[in-house]
Amino acid sequence: MAVPLFDNRAALEPLLPRLRERAGEVLAGGRYILGPEVEAFERELAEYVGVRHVVGVANGTDALTIALRALGVRPGDEVVVPSFTFYATAEAVPPTGARPVFCDVDPDTFCVTPGTVRAALTARTRAVVAVDLFGNVAPTPEIEELGVPVLVDSAQAAGSTRDGARAGSLGAAATLSFFPSKNLPGFGDGGAVLTDDDALAERARTLRFHGSRDKVTYDEVGYNSRLDELQAALLRVLLPELDSWADGRRAAGRHYLEAGLGELVKPPTPVEGADPAWHLYVIRHPLVDRLGPALERVGIGQRAYYRTPVHRQPAMRDFAPDRELPGTEEAARTHLAIPMSPRLDRLNAIEVVSAIREARD
Ligand SMILES: Cc1ncc(COP(=O)(O)O)c(C=O)c1O
Repeated sequence: MAVPLFDNRAALEPLLPRLRERAGEVLAGGRYILGPEVEAFERELAEYVGVRHVVGVANGTDALTIALRALGVRPGDEVVVPSFTFYATAEAVPPTGARPVFCDVDPDTFCVTPGTVRAALTARTRAVVAVDLFGNVAPTPEIEELGVPVLVDSAQAAGSTRDGARAGSLGAAATLSFFPSKNLPGFGDGGAVLTDDDALAERARTLRFHGSRDKVTYDEVGYNSRLDELQAALLRVLLPELDSWADGRRAAGRHYLEAGLGELVKPPTPVEGADPAWHLYVIRHPLVDRLGPALERVGIGQRAYYRTPVHRQPAMRDFAPDRELPGTEEAARTHLAIPMSPRLDRLNAIEVVSAIREARD
């Protein structure tokens, strides 16, 4: 039995008639940019996550840049970011005029820790970006105790919780992405800035619209970065499903452990107190380069996402750290994503674990 790396389609299938209907209504309504659908989605998402404000923007990368600027990040500042993450986390920093300073991660959780962040702080640090990688939930309150504002990149963690708080509600602000493969998937690009801070939200709202509050006066150089009405209308159909999809992802993780995955490879470790809605289920094994192709040959989806960590990407050469990042190198060398979907069941998990057992023997 083939098991794909991810499959949102099965979960979306029953919603297609309602999605078509809502799309038709938006087309007929003739309002496509910053209208009632975006307003309603922002309100509904804020209520779901438990924050005062949501600002819908064009994608998760813009959400990070806008949130950093709204936090007060300026040219000459430093922003601490992990190197084991999707490239966009770091790419969002230079457009603010600040410099990304790479810190290490714990290779078991794939997240930054107070210790790895502390090692990267300097007098110029203006903010830290903690990433809820693969759906895990970074230890944001503990990092905030270091005394620096934390922006949480929750692009991969919609539906995850930690100690009862939802991903997106932690830190000075957080960001989400609605890229089609994400836990809350859109039908194109989309993103959001989430915060309890009234002033930060107001500045993010201004920045997403060319730095203007009223389309008459332009207070600062901003962006054209809005969530579309069409995307917002479709996301409103999906948001009520997020918790059941998140539970499906948690159950899939349990099926793997019950099938004996932990005896063969290192499964992902939730951060203490976290209940991850796994976006990607990422294992570690020293011989992962042999394991990956062996799984592929028997129809089991697999992929190494970040074999080259961000600090060693050509575009980041000016920001390469002079410190070693051993946790990052270890995670980069040994990680492998195996299938994860809201509907991955016990039989799928047994199939994947058997294939791993055979590939290893
Ligand atoms: C961790 C992380 N940060 C940022 C982004 C950027 O989001 P987007 O693709 O919506 O710009 C993504 C996803 O693509 C991501 O996985």
